[in-house]
Amino acid sequence: MKGMRSDIVRILLTRREIASKVAELGKKLSREYAGLEPLMVCVLKGSAIFFSDLCRQMDIPVQMDFIAAASYGRHSGSSGEVRLIKDLDVSIEGRHVLVVEDILDTGLTLHYLTEMLRSRKPASLKVCVLLDKPGRRRVAFEPDYFGFVIPNEFVVGYGLDYAEMYRNLPDICILKEEIYKK
Ligand code: PRP
Repeated sequence: MKGMRSDIVRILLTRREIASKVAELGKKLSREYAGLEPLMVCVLKGSAIFFSDLCRQMDIPVQMDFIAAASYGRHSGSSGEVRLIKDLDVSIEGRHVLVVEDILDTGLTLHYLTEMLRSRKPASLKVCVLLDKPGRRRVAFEPDYFGFVIPNEFVVGYGLDYAEMYRNLPDICILKEEIYKK
């Protein structure tokens, strides 16, 4: 952890702030999905930590499934093509589906995933993101639920990575420019 801390400019959101927001979201979702037995969909890998905390803040029966997508050229401004890496295991037809993401950035990933999932005829399809970075949007997309709107900074921690590192930082931190620009 010591090595990782020296790559950080500062903490943007502390573990306490995150935990309190996740508890608030869990409460709200428990009310809205009461009696619906929602299928919570984790978008791997960034969402894994938020997803596991959020599910445990819900006091109604839920089911879980996992999906993974990769996007190309998201940061370079090129095509921004998204590809499915791992599909859901279960059918979502007639189910109340809640997609859980760590961050909504360009919008390309969630735009692609929600179009694909909607074609499978769920009873409802909503999206919950922990972080919304509207400054980087390339396709219009509004989440149904969000935790924090954040500025245009490169953030890592609480599941979010740079080159697969820093996901296990407990706080959401701003990464030093020299790390991702080197
Ligand atoms: C991140 C994040 C979202 C996506 C959001 O995933 O977890 O899935 O980017 O960005 P967008 O709105 O610009 O599409 P990434 O592709 O880095 O993979 P990971 O979840 O495995 O870290």
